[in-house]
Amino acid sequence: SSKKGMVSATLTAEPYEVELLPGKKTTVWAYNQHIPGPLIEAFEGDIVEIRFINKLAQPTTVHWHGLPVPSDQDGNPQDAVPVGGERLYRFSLPKGCAGTYWYHPHPHGDTAEQVYRGLAGLFIVRAKDDVLAHLPEQHLVISDLKLAADGSIPDNTMNDWMNGREGQFVLLNGQRQPLIKVAEAQRWRIWNACSARYLRLALPGRKIILLGSDGGLLEKAQQLDELLLAPGSRAEWLVAGPEAEVDLMAMAYDRHKMGAVAPEQDIKLATIQFIQNTSAQLPERLRSLPPKRIPVAKKRVVFSETMSMEGGQHSMQFLVNGKSYDMQRVDFVSRVGDTELWEIFNDSHMDHPFHMHGMQFEMIDSTLKGKTSPAPWRALIDTFNLLPQQSARILVTQQHKGLRMYHCHILEHEGQGMMGQVLVK
Ligand code: C2O
Ligand code: CU
Ligand code: CU
Repeated sequence: SSKKGMVSATLTAEPYEVELLPGKKTTVWAYNQHIPGPLIEAFEGDIVEIRFINKLAQPTTVHWHGLPVPSDQDGNPQDAVPVGGERLYRFSLPKGCAGTYWYHPHPHGDTAEQVYRGLAGLFIVRAKDDVLAHLPEQHLVISDLKLAADGSIPDNTMNDWMNGREGQFVLLNGQRQPLIKVAEAQRWRIWNACSARYLRLALPGRKIILLGSDGGLLEKAQQLDELLLAPGSRAEWLVAGPEAEVDLMAMAYDRHKMGAVAPEQDIKLATIQFIQNTSAQLPERLRSLPPKRIPVAKKRVVFSETMSMEGGQHSMQFLVNGKSYDMQRVDFVSRVGDTELWEIFNDSHMDHPFHMHGMQFEMIDSTLKGKTSPAPWRALIDTFNLLPQQSARILVTQQHKGLRMYHCHILEHEGQGMMGQVLVK
């Protein structure tokens, strides 16, 4: 519901039964009995009040992925809502935060399971001076689901814990390969809500026209042949063109999984039917980002994996700066309002998507095998991929005091300790 300047909603996390395989019952966990959970839409400047009720059999939290909310409202692992409990999340949305966000649980150790069982929802913040507000929107949430033959959702296997879980069903808005009709130029918002699956998106035979990233519009639209959306990332596209039928594809992407894994395959996500010729005039400038600030401090984050022996079994450990996550430990201290240069280095054999809470940041450049490339365009983001042995430099400005997490957004890795925290003073 919404009064002027105020958005309020109730979210209830609970298990319920659905029929996904003919004649079989699947118990999913979801917000308000829907996957994805309800779309929360607000304007910059609004106050958001969410009453949250936990009807799961586990403690949980609601984390507002990418939004600049105060740390005590951000569903940190330390702030779990107990079984049967409830709480109010309340925050305001500052100017400049218009963009495409989502919310999901973040209880320590159980985030991956709660997300893969269905807990995730959408959040859009709009700007009052949005130059593309006239375009009709279509929202595409891509998730994947792993089901056993009896319809149940199986626990993670060793391989899921190592490489991140990928379900055999890749779903768009909860459906397999839906037909999407496009009768006019549209603005699409796309979410990668998978625990671990990367989406190398393409519209074979057409260019992708990229309008925005996690944190809203780019300065200028970009024409691309494909776009890699790492787990947790979002994008905005302009979709228009001649009458035709085009597939929306997730092309095979090798993210350097470990062990013996099946070769990656192209996956068709949807059929897009352009039912007539359409076009749209885009303004030369979609948005002006504030000038880059000169960093006053530096931080270095290193992702790594090590093999360890536990009970005669090899197991992997996923580390940040050589350590496994500890809720009680402060790994870095920053100051509110300071701009810092963070270098993130992936010292491992597989891809890992880096994510930090509570803000949007900007990538400056990335370096692989001694070669540094500047970011191809300016964008506000909260999640990005790192190839093995790749590093990237980002400009980070914390807007609120308190504890913030940064981690790999392959949720199995995050849950096994590939997470650190910065205390903002
Ligand atoms: Cu979407 Cu800490 O994550
Ligand atoms: Cu987050
Ligand atoms: Cu990872």
